[in-house]
Amino acid sequence: MTKIYDFDELIDRTNTQCEKYDSREKIFGNADVIPLWVADTDFKTPDFIVQAVKERAAHEVYGYPITPDSFYEAIEGWLERRHQWTVNKETIQYAPNVVIALASIVLSMTRPGDKIVVQPPVYFPFFQVIEGNGRIVVENPLKVLDGRYHFDLDDLRSKIDENTKMLFLCNPHNPGGTVWTRQELTDLGNLCLEKNVVVVSDEIHADLVFQGNRHTPFANISESFAQNSIVAMSASKTFNIAGLSSAFLVIPDKQKRLLYKQFMRATHLSSGNFFGLVATEAAFKYGDEWLNQLLRYLEGNLQFVEDYLATHLPGLRIMKPEGTYLIWIDLSALSVSAKKACELMVEAGVGLSPGFLFGTGGENYVRLNMGCPRSLLLQGLRCMKLALENR
Ligand SMILES: Cc1ncc(COP(=O)(O)O)c(C=O)c1O
Repeated sequence: MTKIYDFDELIDRTNTQCEKYDSREKIFGNADVIPLWVADTDFKTPDFIVQAVKERAAHEVYGYPITPDSFYEAIEGWLERRHQWTVNKETIQYAPNVVIALASIVLSMTRPGDKIVVQPPVYFPFFQVIEGNGRIVVENPLKVLDGRYHFDLDDLRSKIDENTKMLFLCNPHNPGGTVWTRQELTDLGNLCLEKNVVVVSDEIHADLVFQGNRHTPFANISESFAQNSIVAMSASKTFNIAGLSSAFLVIPDKQKRLLYKQFMRATHLSSGNFFGLVATEAAFKYGDEWLNQLLRYLEGNLQFVEDYLATHLPGLRIMKPEGTYLIWIDLSALSVSAKKACELMVEAGVGLSPGFLFGTGGENYVRLNMGCPRSLLLQGLRCMKLALENR
């Protein structure tokens, strides 16, 4: 019989050294706000992962780990089942997390002063790993059309020059929740091929895609796209295990793979940790049914937020996410600035992510994380209403 998971369960996460709860004082100046900000969920990590971690912990010797074949096989199986993507095991490379992987790619495959394209508003560490490592950010802002983000390929074409070496793609997109279609990715990828720009596709949200949409792994579109790209993934968003630190890359091109491996050897970043490894393996071996149920719950949360805002805050327009557990809300119809609106929300007891953090185009938005029990979401929405009604 199918086990039914309870996503309504409220779990006290305070004083567990977790960023979402225990950094509230630092981030918002208020330790009690309902935290609908940083992208982790308040759902319990599923039992089959907890069991795998506990079993490994029970061994009580925690010396250097290896990344076993079973880790790669679990990834292979998951990508085949969930994304109809057949990946050769040797193309999969371990990474401690996705952002470290992006930085490692930048450092091993580009030179100081090279240009890397980002498509704001976007997950802001993209800027940090480029600029913080002495490379130059080139912005190719997304366009809003019919309440959804679209690539601006004319703008992209005009901005690429001989120093533009790479493009960071967020697929699906954080914060817009856009699940790029195969056609959109094909058009983008063809331009990058033509201009010799390597596509680094951050697909950490790949599993979180709602009914009616479909995730397309960038490297699975064609062999030439595979050779011109690197895909970054992790079980961490889906199964709420970011604190265990484990991710992976798919690098089909031998030369790029070699550069990455050399970098990992030189920095000793490749050894991993037992708990991240066993958690990832368990997630990808046993996680299908749990994920199916999670997705239905998130779809319910999305409907709930849409209904609540339509009834109580009709001035706010959401960019309806096609995936992720993030909702990007346009505040431009308010008579106060988005910055002021965020302050008012904190005063009223809810903490969201201000849109300006995500760069150009994000200034009038706020990002709401709906990955929590519906009762908590309702409390957060009530605080938003209190803060914003009649503004
Ligand atoms: C697009 C994207 N990439 C990467 C990350 C972080 O990944 P990691 O914790 O593996 O570095 C996030 C987290 O929100 C994200 O949204």
